[in-house]
Amino acid sequence: MPENVRSKATAVVGAQWGDEGKGKVVDYLASSYDFTARYAGGHNAGHTVIFGDHRYVLQLVPSGILRPGKRAVIGPGTVVDPAALVGELENLKRSGVDVRGRLFLSNRAHVIFPYHREMDKASEAALGAAKIGTTSRGIGPAYEDKMARRGIRVCDMLEPECFRAKLERVIGEKNAISQAAYGHPLDFSGMLDQYLELAAHIRGLVTDTAVLLNEALDRGESVLFEGAQGTMLDIDHGTYPFVTSSSATSGGAATGSGVPPTRITGVLGVTKAYTTRVGSGPFPTEMNGLEAEAVRARGNEFGAVTGRPRRCGWLDLMVLRYAKLLNGIDSLAVTKLDVFDEQAEIKICTGYRLKGRPISAMPPDVESLSQVEPEYRTVPGWQKSTAGIRDVRDLPTAARDYLNFISDELQVEIGMISTGPDRDATILPRGTKLASWV
Ligand code: GDP
Ligand code: IMO
Ligand code: MG
Repeated sequence: MPENVRSKATAVVGAQWGDEGKGKVVDYLASSYDFTARYAGGHNAGHTVIFGDHRYVLQLVPSGILRPGKRAVIGPGTVVDPAALVGELENLKRSGVDVRGRLFLSNRAHVIFPYHREMDKASEAALGAAKIGTTSRGIGPAYEDKMARRGIRVCDMLEPECFRAKLERVIGEKNAISQAAYGHPLDFSGMLDQYLELAAHIRGLVTDTAVLLNEALDRGESVLFEGAQGTMLDIDHGTYPFVTSSSATSGGAATGSGVPPTRITGVLGVTKAYTTRVGSGPFPTEMNGLEAEAVRARGNEFGAVTGRPRRCGWLDLMVLRYAKLLNGIDSLAVTKLDVFDEQAEIKICTGYRLKGRPISAMPPDVESLSQVEPEYRTVPGWQKSTAGIRDVRDLPTAARDYLNFISDELQVEIGMISTGPDRDATILPRGTKLASWV
């Protein structure tokens, strides 16, 4: 893409295991885009946006909604728990954010029901120590039903008689499964009435969002796709089975929104200056206990949704190379640089060895990935505060060296640097493609 062309349809994707700071990055860029669109996942996501005295954790509603006058889409590739959505809208209203006429929900998105949550919890309990560590929001079971072609979609909720018939059929099926697998039926009393009431709340948001976004692009308007989760949690490319159930990578922006791949003009990958992961599964660069504790405390690494402590590790260039390849990342946002301010030395994983031999490809199976030995380069820390810095020239030399090393190794420009949770604690290095986008 030529440097002077502003990307009209840009996907923002997590390059690691989620929680990279996508909410902050999307909020920053959203002021320059007409629409923000979520294309995957559900309220398993937690996207934090902080400016002034305001702090929001958005789960389903795209972060761009916080920009006055901007429009936002929850696309067909998402799974929507209507109770969670209505709760989120009420919270936004209480904070003075009016979404009327600005938020659009796809008529094709799949609906999460209480039985999905129950199934999620039951299947995790049955796995015992091998559990995935899901967010217990029913995400996996809702996508299972979608793929099995027995899901109920937002459009189905809007026709009460049709909805009743579909739900009754599904309840029969779910009870048979629950009885066989867990020895008891599920309690569905009140569910239909509750969902009919929720349908009344969301009816006004529902539309064909693929048409909406494509027509907006036809008019020359711009769309920012807000990825949820991260590349290593992608159902096809991540550390399966320790993944989520949707397409978190940039390809998902096309299928999950109905905007064709030929119209997506830029991909911004988001990475922390280190790595975190919540839930189970292999994590080659995981820090030892004391190192992790220090980073967790400085980075406040606790889940935005579940409050769970996040596992912390060193930056992993094998993961980022893989993320660049899969997403077509042409610019990288590096967040949480300030968390390393006190670090005397910083380790960066430049490659893996498996059974003593260097490997270039990401192993597909968790057994191999659990066995890889990361090769580290150790660089000096800067031991100065970078918190809130907004000009790249004010960064300590060692911090710039760290960023340049990442950029050189990955052969990708760094288009944004984040030096604190606040909207303003952001650097746009000059002369980059990203700077020309905004
Ligand atoms: P997301 O899921 O990718 O949107 O990320 P989360 O919001 O779950 O987690 C990122 C956390 O890091 C949030 O608490 C943000 O407020 C915070 N954060 C984002 N950027 C920075 C940064 O540059 N420095 C610091 N210290 N915190 C940041
Ligand atoms: P954002 O958008 C971090 C993880 C869960 C679990 C696995 C499967 O805030 O980056 P699920 O409930 O999706 O079936 O859980 O995926 N997970 C996330 N981790 N950030 C997220 O979203 C996540 N969404 C799901 O912890 O390991
Ligand atoms: Mg998050």
